[in-house]
Amino acid sequence: MVRAMLENLHDVNRIGLAVALEDFNGVSEAARELQARAISLQEASLEDLGIEDPRENQFDAYLEGQRQAAGAILEAAGEKDAAAVFAGVELLFGSACMPCHSDFRERHQLLRPSAAFMTDMVHSWQDINRGLSVGDLDLVMRRSRDLQSVARVLTWNEVISQVFNVSEPERRIAFRLLAQQVSRYAGEVETAAAQEKLTDAVAATRSMWSEGCIPCHQQFR
Ligand code: HEC
Ligand code: HEC
Repeated sequence: MVRAMLENLHDVNRIGLAVALEDFNGVSEAARELQARAISLQEASLEDLGIEDPRENQFDAYLEGQRQAAGAILEAAGEKDAAAVFAGVELLFGSACMPCHSDFRERHQLLRPSAAFMTDMVHSWQDINRGLSVGDLDLVMRRSRDLQSVARVLTWNEVISQVFNVSEPERRIAFRLLAQQVSRYAGEVETAAAQEKLTDAVAATRSMWSEGCIPCHQQFR
């Protein structure tokens, strides 16, 4: 579910970017993804999605809202009508994303601290990429320091056991080592940026993913 939702968000962002660049094919592609995702969620069982109380089929009704709004966006993109694309996005938010979240996204999930840590890491990562792309090395250094601070908190015992619910000693050690990898490579990004070695900084971000983020998700998500 979380994955489908991050993809939903990604598609909405893509529509915004594509329409700004008058890339109506890009708009159509993202709208088609939103439509197909709504259909596949409608076909999945609510139990598998972790929805315990469907509240009189409202859940499916919101998915139907997503399907129809995505259809309207698709039609608008076919006519290369930017205003109609935005009207479709408004419909998507109003008839699907917002009401479904207010009914079904539990409060504790909104505040789920593990997700908050990760969101923080993603934002730092996005800023680092922006900084590397446009040559804003101060931004790269600042955000790689932020990333190191968050990764360091992820090595604390209480955080590993209470926020991420990892209790077995060996798994705790594995978790800590992976968090240390993120911290270490974020440190390398910072050093490389300070020395204006951009290629090294890019290589360090890649190692951060392949030796930190990805293996940790494979083992602990
Ligand atoms: C049919 C219901 C439904 C619709 C429609 C829906 N969502 Fe969600 N969304 C949820 C639920 C339930 C969660 C909480 C999932 C969880 O945390 O397990 C969620 C969570 C999210 C999250 C947070 C993921 C996280 O935990 O970090 C984002 C972002 C999101 N949705 C974006 C969207 C966008 C954008 C749309 C509209 C295009 C949308 N959603 C439409 C039900 C819906
Ligand atoms: C030490 C382990 C670990 C490392 C390292 C790690 N993550 Fe995560 N990440 C997790 C776990 C566990 C979850 C699932 C959290 C949950 O669902 O409660 C997660 C979830 C996520 C999510 C989904 C958020 C959500 O709403 O559930 C994103 C996005 C994410 N991580 C990004 C990153 C990025 C980017 C990095 C590297 C810079 C990274 N993570 C490094 C353990 C890690």
